[in-house]
Amino acid sequence: MKDDHLSYERMDADPHEKKLFIRQLFDAVVPTYDVLNRVLSLGIDQTWRRAAIRNLSPLSGKRVIDLCCGTGDLSRLLRKRGAVTLSIDFSRKMILKGLNKKALSGLAAVADASFLPYQNSFFNGAAIAFGIRNIPDIGPFLKEVRRVLAPGGRFVILELVRPENPIVNSIYKVYLHGLLPLAGRLVSGDKTAYRYLAETIATFIDPADLSFLLTAYGFEDVRIHRKTFGIAAVISCKKGEPS
Ligand SMILES: C[S@@+](CC[C@H](N)C(=O)[O-])C[C@H]1O[C@@H](n2cnc3c(N)ncnc32)[C@H](O)[C@@H]1O
Repeated sequence: MKDDHLSYERMDADPHEKKLFIRQLFDAVVPTYDVLNRVLSLGIDQTWRRAAIRNLSPLSGKRVIDLCCGTGDLSRLLRKRGAVTLSIDFSRKMILKGLNKKALSGLAAVADASFLPYQNSFFNGAAIAFGIRNIPDIGPFLKEVRRVLAPGGRFVILELVRPENPIVNSIYKVYLHGLLPLAGRLVSGDKTAYRYLAETIATFIDPADLSFLLTAYGFEDVRIHRKTFGIAAVISCKKGEPS
């Protein structure tokens, strides 16, 4: 991606414009996305994904949507545990990579997470890994997830967050603003992408605020589990049953 073409620093608040930029950015990092994920997280990303989907157990026979599925690592884990998984991402290139490496099944669609092409109450569970901090129109997104979930269905969010402990946070900042963009640039050749990803971690709302938001959009039983010195969080909640 050319750095001067579309800079996130120049983006205005228009969610549509932002999404065009974000999709272009993820399209650009597809070839190196998986390897960088493993290296930059020291391989812990898969452990976090497994921990996240435990919140949807039992999975056998459940219909689960993987939102912002990328190359399909979460979808593959969900299917391994017996779920029927439908996966969506707005980057066609991510989906194609996921299909090629057989992490995604044929049940994958190119779609915006805030406009889901599924009927009301279609899913027994919903999951999003490392995707929510990229969604500018978070209100419409949460409304849409709740719409497609069946009553009683759980929604689980896995996201990178800022550690609460000030010492860990100082060390993490060095990683986030130094090592991450540098390694990202060297491996992917993309100046902007990993700087943007670091910036979204530094600025996204913290898990407590996200859980308030979930409650405001009608989700219940919100639980937060921090992982690995607090640098990742699994937030789970459910769509209540009608009273
Ligand atoms: C950091 S990747 C995470 C991919 C995958 N979930 C994983 O665990 O590796 C974020 C993904 O979200 C997708 N994405 C971002 N905003 C989206 C939106 N509004 N609708 C659909 N996909 C979106 C991107 O294309 C990208 O593939």
